[in-house]
Amino acid sequence: MSGNALWQFGWRDDLAIGDAAIDAQHRAFFVEAEQIRAALVSDQPRARILDYCATFRADLETHFRDEEALMTTLGFPQLRDHRLEHSRLLAQTEETCHELEHATCLIDCLLGTRSLLERLAEHIALQDARIRAFIQAANKE
Ligand SMILES: [Fe+2]
Ligand SMILES: [Fe+2]
Repeated sequence: MSGNALWQFGWRDDLAIGDAAIDAQHRAFFVEAEQIRAALVSDQPRARILDYCATFRADLETHFRDEEALMTTLGFPQLRDHRLEHSRLLAQTEETCHELEHATCLIDCLLGTRSLLERLAEHIALQDARIRAFIQAANKE
């Protein structure tokens, strides 16, 4: 199965929120998401896919922690809701990694993985983008 045309995610400069560390983590997210996608569609060994997932999950947790620390520093007003969404996304990531570990056919996991990556990419584009204005305001002070 080739899902290439169906789900490709990539960094775009307009996704930058203006914090170098967070933007680098977002850029890395797209690289890691692509590794997982490519590994799944090319039927790579499960051990390699699980390695990618473990790295992805750990980096995501670090990223959420760093982003929440930044929002706290900035006095971001929707921190509570944003943090809640991070926990939901992390739970979905864990669930997807678990499915990949235990599925009898990895191809069955493609849809679940795609749905997770789409949700994460949408979070960056719609929710994380709201942090940008607060960084700009802080830079003007
Ligand atoms: Fe983020
Ligand atoms: Fe976020």
